[in-house]
Parts: sequence; C-alpha cells; structure tokens
Amino acid sequence: MNHSTPPAIEADGLVKRFGAFTAVDGVSLTVPTGSVYGVLGPNGAGKTTTIRMLATLLRPDAGSARVFGHDVVAEPTAVRSLVGVTGQYASVDEDLTATENLMIFARLLGLSRTDSRRKTRELLEEFALEDAASKSLKYFSGGMRRRLDLAASLISQPPLLFLDEPTTGLDPRTRAQMWDTIRRLVAEGSTVLLTTQYLDEADQLADRIAVIDHGRVIADGTADELKRRSEFRRCTCPWSTAQTSKRPARSSPKHWGSRSPSAPRPPGSPRH
Ligand SMILES: Nc1ncnc2c1ncn2[C@@H]1O[C@H](COP(=O)(O)OP(=O)(O)OP(=O)(O)O)[C@@H](O)[C@H]1O
Ligand SMILES: [Mg+2]
Repeated sequence: MNHSTPPAIEADGLVKRFGAFTAVDGVSLTVPTGSVYGVLGPNGAGKTTTIRMLATLLRPDAGSARVFGHDVVAEPTAVRSLVGVTGQYASVDEDLTATENLMIFARLLGLSRTDSRRKTRELLEEFALEDAASKSLKYFSGGMRRRLDLAASLISQPPLLFLDEPTTGLDPRTRAQMWDTIRRLVAEGSTVLLTTQYLDEADQLADRIAVIDHGRVIADGTADELKRRSEFRRCTCPWSTAQTSKRPARSSPKHWGSRSPSAPRPPGSPRH
C-alpha cells in the first residue's frame, strides 16, 4: 500500500455510553483502503454503535477515528461525503415506490433529474428489483428491502461503505447475490466494512475480521487465523455451521454472553 495514503478507517479506543451502560468499550481497528473488513459479533455486541460513530451518526464519548484521514468529530462533512451506510432506508416513506425512493435519495444527493433517473434504473437492474420498481415499500419482503437499502447507499458511489448485517434474514440465493455485489464493489475500488454474526460470511468476504463482544474487540485476524484459535473452534456459534436464514438466539453462542440492558433503538437507526 502507498504509505502516503491514509487507511480507509483508523479507530483508536472508541467508547460510547448510553447512560450508565457502555455499549462500545475502547474499540480500535484499522481498515486498509480497498479491503473488506468484517466486524463479527452477536446481538448487542456494539457493531451498529461502532458503525454509527465511524459514519458520524453518533459522537464518541472517548477515543478517536479517522476516515481517509478525516477526523469523524472534527470533520464530519468531509467524512460524510466519503461514506455510505446501509440502514438509512428506515426513515423513508413506506407509501412510496422503490423508484420514487431512489429518485428522492439521488436528488437529495445533488444529482440532476436525468442522472437520478439513470442511476435509479441502473440500481434497480443491478439489484434485480425492476419488477418491484413501482411497488410501494410496504409490500416489500425483507430481502427486497435489504437490496433496496444497499442500492440507496450506492447512489453516490462512496469510496467507503458500511454494510450493517447486509445478509441477515436473506434466503441463500439472495445472500449469494449480495456477496457477489459486495465483491464487485471491492473489485471496482470500494472499501467495505461489514458487520455480520456469521464466520462463514466473514470468511467468504473479509480480508480481515475483528470479533466484538460486549463492546470490545476480543480477537482479530484473517478468517483462517481465527478458525485456528481453539475458543472459536469449540463454540457452537453460527459461524461454525452454514448460515441459516433466521438469526440465532442471542444466547446460542456458548462463549458469547448476553448483554443488558437492551434498550430500544433511536428513530432512524439501522433496522436490526
Ligand atoms: N440509543 C441507544 N440507547 C441505549 N442503548 C443503546 C442504544 N443503541 C444501542 N444501545 C445498546 O447498546 C448495545 C449495543 O448495541 P448495538 O446495536 O451496537 O449492537 P449490535 O452488535 O449492532 O447488535 P445486533 O447484532 O443486534 O444488531 C445493546 O445493548 C443496545 O441495546
Ligand atoms: Mg446491529
């Protein structure tokens, strides 16, 4: 890697507290540009909260993070121009169609009407949503929503994409399509940070993985390195078996404890 180019993400000791509860407890990670970085962990581990801090949607209580060299607290506008986050779709009007939703995002991002139409058409095709283009979101299945969600985050073709559990709940075929899309994005030069509960997904996609539990990075390395570690080999986590379409019970991974309190999500936070 060129040493004059800063990494896509450099996080150092990020902390986020909600009242007396520490959701993220000193997360540090470095994501090289052009790579896929997997953040693996069970429900409530702090994955979404970490992403929200990196994407400037939440202010860290301690620690620091830079995105392509820009500080997430001091330079939020610069950071926002470089990132896309899935989950934004939660705030969109359910009565509008897929086309209308994508058009609104494109126009909000400053694309002309003609470019917005072209981009919308391309994305609907890329995500196999052409047949659903004029359907209201309220009639969409979970898989269709997720695809539309990712499509919306690609309108501005950001160099860094945060994909928060992009395949949870998807059927195997749709999951495979999503993996192909992620691989294509990286081949075209994007950097991806994705969260997942499944080692097989991280194994398929990620160059490096950080395992998060109780708001802390408890391990990091390549998928092969993690699989060699006895504590990960032994566990009956979802990653040791094929991914199922249902998300696992919070208590199922033997070495992952449950967290409390589990507070409700704020409005507009990613949907899972
Ligand atoms: N706005 C908030 N107020 C209070 N607690 C919160 C808030 N957001 C998250 N939390 C809590 O912080 C912890 C970490 O949540 P987070 O959403 O980051 O976990 P996660 O790893 O993304 O989990 P999941 O796999 O279920 O999406 C959880 O216990 C959650 O209930
Ligand atoms: Mg989450």
